[in-house]
Amino acid sequence: MSSETSRRKNDHIRICSEKPVEARNVKPGFGDVHLIHRCLPEVNPDELDLSTEFLGFEFKAPIVISAMTGGTSKAAEINANLAKAAEEHGIGMCLGSGRAFLEKPSLAYSFKVARENAPSIFISANIGFQELFRYSWSSLRRLVESIGADALTVHLNPLQELLQYEGAPRFRGILERLRRLIEDSEVPVIVKETGSGISMEDARLLSSIGVDAIEVAGAGGTSWASVEYYRSLEAGEAEKARLAETFWDWGIPTVSSIIEVRSITDAPLIASGGVRSGLDVAKALVLGADLAGLALPLLKPAMESWRDVSAVLGRICEELRLAMVLTGSKTISELKEKPYILTGFTRDWVKSRGLKVRCKI
Ligand SMILES: Cc1cc2nc3c(=O)[nH]c(=O)nc-3n(C[C@H](O)[C@H](O)[C@H](O)COP(=O)(O)O)c2cc1C
Repeated sequence: MSSETSRRKNDHIRICSEKPVEARNVKPGFGDVHLIHRCLPEVNPDELDLSTEFLGFEFKAPIVISAMTGGTSKAAEINANLAKAAEEHGIGMCLGSGRAFLEKPSLAYSFKVARENAPSIFISANIGFQELFRYSWSSLRRLVESIGADALTVHLNPLQELLQYEGAPRFRGILERLRRLIEDSEVPVIVKETGSGISMEDARLLSSIGVDAIEVAGAGGTSWASVEYYRSLEAGEAEKARLAETFWDWGIPTVSSIIEVRSITDAPLIASGGVRSGLDVAKALVLGADLAGLALPLLKPAMESWRDVSAVLGRICEELRLAMVLTGSKTISELKEKPYILTGFTRDWVKSRGLKVRCKI
């Protein structure tokens, strides 16, 4: 791996595990979503079925570990712990950017550990959109195959690219590259953001090129402007740091982004960005998501042990179970049909954007 990619990967892990990197003034919006309590739930906790299907793969719960890392020995340890816990819970996992692998194939071990520790779950490989300018499907196939991945996720992170003090971003032509990748790829292609959300305008473009699934990664959780803020400060790049601080809370809040995307496409949808409880997961599903994804809450546990990751996932599943009983939902498909109310900022957003929702506003 180039020393630059390696340094960046280590910076991300260190900064995200040591500094306050979450949004400051923007919330993901789950507080604006209210599920309707049922005092006659008519469902016993032991009857619940949390299983669901996503892109033809079975999940024991509607949860996925969002992309984080790969390419260093620390990353290998983190990926092994994430994968082992994901396997125990029967949920999915997306690996961190495979750029390190593409630059230096000897680093494959730090990604392969996932499949070695999780033989049966859904695993996605991950690349950044910049890789689309450098690699065609024939190179990316090596990444997917050697990891034993079931899908390829491409992340779009224009904000982070603009703020990286060492970056030289290029955005023109991405959609066409994505279209070619989707056409050539033998595995499903998922497109995700990294914390600024996806609008209905972009969801429409992604639908037009036949994307297989979308992960919103909206604002309100991990802020990549904040990560670049700390990196620029450490590099003595005061002006870049100031720029990053201005955009700390930039983006479409997660709940608004779920509604934006769902209002124009039925494509499989992952809700992520500030998902912090099983109740958030339940609300995301009621709004139309098929899975919910978490990254930051699992990072520190994954630096300790797979049991620590498993404990967090266990808590999330328990909270989801409670939300299911309290809304009278025996299955995930029943939960998805439950009524809800939207208030506050999200209600204003939905009205201003003229978005379609299931509830009355
Ligand atoms: C340490 C760390 C590394 C990340 N690296 C990647 C990455 O390589 N590729 C990617 O698509 N997203 C990456 N992300 C973004 C997450 O997948 C996710 O979209 C975002 O953090 C929002 O979720 P959260 O609020 O639960 O953290 C990373 C997140 C964290 C915390």
